[in-house]
Amino acid sequence: MSKSIEVQDLNVYYSDFLAVEGVSIDIEPRSVTAFIGPSGCGKSTFLRTLNRMHEVIPGGHVKGRVLIDGDDLYGPGVDPVLVRRHVGMVFQRPNPFPTMSIRENVLAGARLNNKRLSKGDGDALVEKSLQGANLWNEVKDRLDKPGGGLSGGQQQRLCIARAIAVSPDVLLMDEPCSALDPISTFAIEELISELKNEYTIVIVTHNMQQASRVSDKTAFFNIAGTGKPGKLIEYNDTSTIFTAPTVQATEDYVSGRFG
Ligand SMILES: Nc1ncnc2c1ncn2[C@@H]1O[C@H](COP(=O)(O)OP(=O)(O)O)[C@@H](O)[C@H]1O
Ligand SMILES: [Mg+2]
Repeated sequence: MSKSIEVQDLNVYYSDFLAVEGVSIDIEPRSVTAFIGPSGCGKSTFLRTLNRMHEVIPGGHVKGRVLIDGDDLYGPGVDPVLVRRHVGMVFQRPNPFPTMSIRENVLAGARLNNKRLSKGDGDALVEKSLQGANLWNEVKDRLDKPGGGLSGGQQQRLCIARAIAVSPDVLLMDEPCSALDPISTFAIEELISELKNEYTIVIVTHNMQQASRVSDKTAFFNIAGTGKPGKLIEYNDTSTIFTAPTVQATEDYVSGRFG
């Protein structure tokens, strides 16, 4: 089920270092939001706060609030492990378990939730998730072959299948196409457009064409200089960000004048 994300005045730290400052943003369910901005401005750091992955890094902590459908992710008693099941993540480099079969890769997360998954339920979930990730037709005859034997683009779709197999509410993607060729990139972009009917999707991309192709809203982050915190500069409909931004720095970035 797709859910809204509401971030209120979030500061993100690595120990004493303030990496991202004062972000407030509302993200609607069933939409794709792109995070863009120059390298080092904190896109990945901020993205990881949306499923409490940031705290896995020693010294990683936040101040402020992140509400998913109104529930504070950082509220007292909230279990970060459960949060990560509701808010899935796909990384820059496809990271399937290479020696594990395609089938078991899809089920890896789901097995953590349900240790007694029956063969029949597992088969159904594998098919549904691989269908959802637009990979089923390519792998249905080799489900017992290792995940590491797939092409890069197929591996990334396998990781998406693994992420959606646990029925998350939100899917976070950090430059999911940066290691892929153009055809695989196109396949992932098509998939994102389909997945947004069911999930709230946030994607970090350094590719402006990709942001304009896949996203409904775009958030431009920037950094004033080394050692300074990254900030959210402008957030609006993607078409507005690319054709009529309000802030000069956004205009400079989307027109390729820096970054
Ligand atoms: N594990 C870490 N420990 C300390 N600082 C980090 C770590 N990861 C990123 N940073 C710092 O946080 C800032 C934002 O980095 P990052 O989120 O990776 O930016 P982006 O994804 O926009 O390129 C940078 O100054 C970076 O050096
Ligand atoms: Mg990054």
